[in-house]
Amino acid sequence: MRFSPAHSDAFQSATQEGDDKEGEGDSFGRELLAGLAGKPRSISPKFFYDAAGSRLFDAICELPEYYPTRTELSILADRAGEIAQQIGPDAEIIEFGAGSLRKVRLLLDALKTPRRFVPIDISGEHLAQAARSLRSDYPALDVQPLVADYTRPFSLPTRHDGGGMRVGFFPGSTLGNFTPEEALAFLQGAARVLRGGGLLLGVDLVKDPARLHAAYNDAQGITARFNLNLLARANAELGADFDLSAFTHTAFYNAPHQRIEMHLVSRASQTVNLLGERLHFAEAETIHTENSHKFTVEGLRTLAARAGFGIGPVWTDPERLFSVHWLPAAQ
Ligand code: AVJ
Repeated sequence: MRFSPAHSDAFQSATQEGDDKEGEGDSFGRELLAGLAGKPRSISPKFFYDAAGSRLFDAICELPEYYPTRTELSILADRAGEIAQQIGPDAEIIEFGAGSLRKVRLLLDALKTPRRFVPIDISGEHLAQAARSLRSDYPALDVQPLVADYTRPFSLPTRHDGGGMRVGFFPGSTLGNFTPEEALAFLQGAARVLRGGGLLLGVDLVKDPARLHAAYNDAQGITARFNLNLLARANAELGADFDLSAFTHTAFYNAPHQRIEMHLVSRASQTVNLLGERLHFAEAETIHTENSHKFTVEGLRTLAARAGFGIGPVWTDPERLFSVHWLPAAQ
């Protein structure tokens, strides 16, 4: 479907335009070629999440160094009652980038008679499996998984008529993957489709760079495997011939931009074949694979207000590592 401004449930988020009818594979090849033709070369982090990448990400969430997942889970567990009070009964929850659906269970358990849950994720296989297990645990909930790339236009099902709020749930600091401009565009789109409800948004906070560095350079090398999986995926899906041992993972904090950057660094001068193109990599040349922006509470609130949200309560952990925001969307 194409985005149609007249359709009230159409969601136009980030800056990309286009037809999302194509298979995921076509879009991966096309976007990969375009990203690798750029200077500096880049690949969108949304392509991390094939089945293997989704499993590696789940392993990252268990790492001792990777504090965001367990910190956000503890905030949600501790504050679920207060959050449920903001939302009220009979809600319809739309989760952006749903992954394993662990976090939403804390929310569902605290809400009074949640009616419908629409998890949206780019990784169909992972999503279908998570949706099945959620359905069996919440038989009264109408679970409607949507395989879509929410950085592109897509349509939501018509609003549930149960009388409750439509609530967006965007945990995990995935908002941090967007550029500031894309984050604003995403939030503007969300404020529109969530009118009369609100957005429950989890974002990672600015902190000691050493703590950030450790979280993206874990001792077991799982984050490195997650990063390199992009190249394995290009080999498997597109017949590319990336030599995985000829690239290394690197991640560092870019303080002026308030973000962790991940790159794959070419260890040597080399040529890679991809979809009929020969790509030359100089020694030490990098492919920029991810930005993970960090926020201050005030900075996030300013951004949300610019996107048209009201400002509700914010919940953090005692160390102020992570934040969960309730952002009401006016009618
Ligand atoms: C899912 C985008 C929030 O940026 O922390 C984890 C992805 N990348 N380790 C993050 C990720 C490397 C994660 N987000």
